[in-house]
Formats: sequence, structure tokens, C-alpha cells
Amino acid sequence: MNIEVLTLFPEIIDNYSNTSIIKRAKENGIVNIQAVNFRDFSDSKHHSVDDAPFGGGAGMVLSPQPIASALKKLNYNQKKVVYLTPKGKTFNQKMANELSVGKDLILICGHYEGLDQRIIDNYVDLEISIGDYVLSGGEIGALVIIDAVTRLLPGALAESSLDEESFSNCLLEYPQYTRPRVFKDYEVPEILLSGNHQKIEEYRLMESIRLTLQNRPDLIQKGIRNKVFDERILKLIKEIKNRLL
Ligand code: ADE
Repeated sequence: MNIEVLTLFPEIIDNYSNTSIIKRAKENGIVNIQAVNFRDFSDSKHHSVDDAPFGGGAGMVLSPQPIASALKKLNYNQKKVVYLTPKGKTFNQKMANELSVGKDLILICGHYEGLDQRIIDNYVDLEISIGDYVLSGGEIGALVIIDAVTRLLPGALAESSLDEESFSNCLLEYPQYTRPRVFKDYEVPEILLSGNHQKIEEYRLMESIRLTLQNRPDLIQKGIRNKVFDERILKLIKEIKNRLL
């Protein structure tokens, strides 16, 4: 997959995409990430990229010309154009899954008061927010998408790492432990050392449910609403809920 990022700060994208799993995925030809500074496409004398808003108001608005020219150069018609903005749809695992099997991506990072609406109306396919808070630019959001999507691409991770992840089944992932068996005074739950796979599976499921009830009751509600849980899980949810009360 090719991911191109339109930004005024390409170094943010380059730095991150040269680390860890993203770096490995790039080296293995699984993903190609290119940061493009849209200031280079500005036709104005001083390479300006923004201007005051029509109608007045605070801040500056990103001008349409540099971004439209950059998009044209990148053949945006053949790609999915995503604009990072707090006004977008909230990003989640389902969107990451969908993007990972779709077209090549162009991610536009806004700054200041955002992008001229005509770019959004005529060039952008999808507006994405990474959460209900306002950041100073779209780069962090672009990195969130790059990370969440890249790790889903075939070959980026061992396939089994994706099997039991948080969110895929409306439950958070169970807690993990590694050596040593006793750290300071803290012991690994006995059952994980038992070698009894059925008991371990049961224990992990209970822990997933307990953690989700505690930290993300909204996910449990969603799972119930969408009939994601089977009878066994529904019964356990009831039991654990009563125990937590
Ligand atoms: N740019 C500024 N805030 C943002 C947010 N919450 N999500 C995506 N892009 C943004």
C-alpha cells in the first residue's frame, strides 16, 4: 500500500515512519510512506499556504491552490483522500480494517483554522478525527492512521498477533504476563502456569470481560446491542457484573 501525506512538517512523518514496525514494513515492501510538503506547490511569490478567512474571524485558513496542485500531482483520483480534522468521523478499529483493504491513501494534515471548504467538498473522500480534542495539526492523526493501518497489512505482523486483539469482538484484550514468575512480591496468576489450556482460555475470557466492564462499559453495551456475544459470554457478563457491584 502507498500512503502519501500532505503536510507542512514532513519531518514528523519521516521520523516516525522510520521506527519499529512501520520501518520494517517499509523495508519489506509492504507499505510505502511518502511525506509531501504542500508548500512546495504554492504558486505565490513567497510560497505562502494560508490566508485570512472570508467573513472575518480568528486565525488563518489553508488556501486551496497549493493543496489542489499537490493532489493533482499525486493522481488523487485513483486514491482515497483523507483529511485529518477534529470535525471528522471518529477513527476506530473498524475504519482501520476498511482502510487496510482499500485503495492507496493520501492523508491531508490541516493546520491553523483548517482547510478551505472547497477542497473538502471537491477532493476529499473521508474526514477523520482521532478523538474529541483539538490538536495543533493533523500530523499526529495521520501517524495514528498510518500505524493502525500498516500493522494490518499482510506480512506486517505475525498473523496470530491480530487474532485476539482488543475491539475486534467488543471486548478488551486480557492481561499478559511474562517471566519472571515472581517480580518483587507480585506473582503471575497461578492458572497461567497450569498448562490447562481450557482453564487458561476461561480465565482470559473472564479477565477480558472484567476489564471491559470496568474501563469500557460502552463496548459491552455495543456488543449486546449488535448481538456480538454468545450465550456463554452473556452469562459471564451478568455474573461478573454482579460480582463487581
Ligand atoms: N487535527 C486537529 N485535531 C485533530 C483531531 N482530533 N483529529 C484529527 N486531526 C486533528
